Amino acid sequence: DNAKMILNKDYVVAPVDKRIYGSFIEHLGRAVYGGIYEPGHPSADKFGFRQDVSEMIRELQVPIVRYPGGNFVSGYNWEDGVGPVDKRPRRTELAWATVETNEIGTNEFVTWAKEVGTEVMMAVNLGTRGVDAARNLIEYCNLTQGTYWSDLRKSHGYSQPHNIKTWCLGNEMDGPWQIGTKTAEEYGRLACETAKVMKMVDPTIELVACGSSGSGMPTFAQWEATVLEHTYEHVDYISLHTYYGNQDNDTANYLAKTMDMDAFIKSVVATCDYVKAKKRSKKKINLSFDEWNVWFHSNEADKKIDRWSIAPPQLEDIYNFEDALLVGGMLITLLKNADRVKMACLAQLVNVIAPIMTENGGSAWKQTIYYPYLHTSVFGRGTVLNTIMKAPKFDTKDFTDVSAIDATAVINDNNDEITVFAVNRHMENNISLDVELNGFGQFEVIEHIVLEHNDVKATNTKENPNNVVPNNNGNATLEDGSIKASLKNLSWNVIRLK
Ligand code: AHR
Repeated sequence: DNAKMILNKDYVVAPVDKRIYGSFIEHLGRAVYGGIYEPGHPSADKFGFRQDVSEMIRELQVPIVRYPGGNFVSGYNWEDGVGPVDKRPRRTELAWATVETNEIGTNEFVTWAKEVGTEVMMAVNLGTRGVDAARNLIEYCNLTQGTYWSDLRKSHGYSQPHNIKTWCLGNEMDGPWQIGTKTAEEYGRLACETAKVMKMVDPTIELVACGSSGSGMPTFAQWEATVLEHTYEHVDYISLHTYYGNQDNDTANYLAKTMDMDAFIKSVVATCDYVKAKKRSKKKINLSFDEWNVWFHSNEADKKIDRWSIAPPQLEDIYNFEDALLVGGMLITLLKNADRVKMACLAQLVNVIAPIMTENGGSAWKQTIYYPYLHTSVFGRGTVLNTIMKAPKFDTKDFTDVSAIDATAVINDNNDEITVFAVNRHMENNISLDVELNGFGQFEVIEHIVLEHNDVKATNTKENPNNVVPNNNGNATLEDGSIKASLKNLSWNVIRLK
């Protein structure tokens, strides 16, 4: 089979906001305790942060990490997590039925973020709390000194403000599982007032309002419209969350789920622009896809966890090769929508539905999904090119006209590197891809990375961490201004030109 893709240097989607390669650390399971933080671990630094894990995060070049939740934030008192550690309370953590020791809190997390070279996207609690706790937290974090909360931070040993620029106004406030769930009206009003006050404290911040917790929610779209009608002039982004699974063991249908993600994005864009029109506003609301991933493998195991334990193994999905293909496709989908999606967080980063796994006291290893995330984050910076694609199509259980090749391309800021990201999601056929390059000047193929495996269910484990790893054996060449490459059936491809 053959596919043809046309790229033109001047036909662009948008510059990539590097924050689309963000991730997420929630106080949940072993993400914090036993994940990024494990004092006493052989690799722990003086703060207790595991350097084997930090090293893998630095390699990913994660630009921003959402914190501290997730469902956790809706019951969190941030004051519990600052000041002398031995005075911090142990609390019942109601979202995940565990005990939170509060050994790690805001200041420690900011220290960790600096160590791994990332920024913090901080969420405030709009479940059990509201305007007051949010204004105090932002004063604590972002004001230099001379006020109660900024001086308190200084007294806790952090003389410089944290200067956190991106803030989430709560989490999934439409979900019945959320602590302090609200109607769109209730949440819209609270988010508006919280946003106003937070920007009074620090006008330089950017704010994310909660969209629906998924496009399958009964209130989806009307929720966004109502929330934005209340908050439009005070917030900058609206959030999207989605998780996919292959519960039916139907690989072709599973890999086509990027089409659902794309439709979700386009519906939220349309809703933002509807409110814009209604308000006769000049302002554009962009999208923060601040939770996305595969999540289903661990659902059964999670039902068996004892209540009120500390950092139990929760949401520990073991990812296989086909999951990596879908994650690659989801990253391509985010890139294709780079004109409106300015932030996104792979949920999450360590142990909890994560690309990085650890053993308490032991090793850390990379799950299959680590690799597409690594490749796009490292090579997918610059400007997304408009992709015209003609490829074989097929239907699956839920999707019609699924393109066998899902691809996009990014040109870097110096105009001297082009990277094509492509998934061949055809179950049986290798596909010859021809990429016509128009107006680019001289380039050479420097690398064609491939992630492939003959078993779609293959995983990386502690015992066998290199079972699914990328190789450099792709056969892309450049001939007469066109890239020619054979893309193996069920493969992730990164074709780099310089
Ligand atoms: O990422 C896991 C959970 O998924 C988050 O806590 C919540 O926001 C979402 O439902």
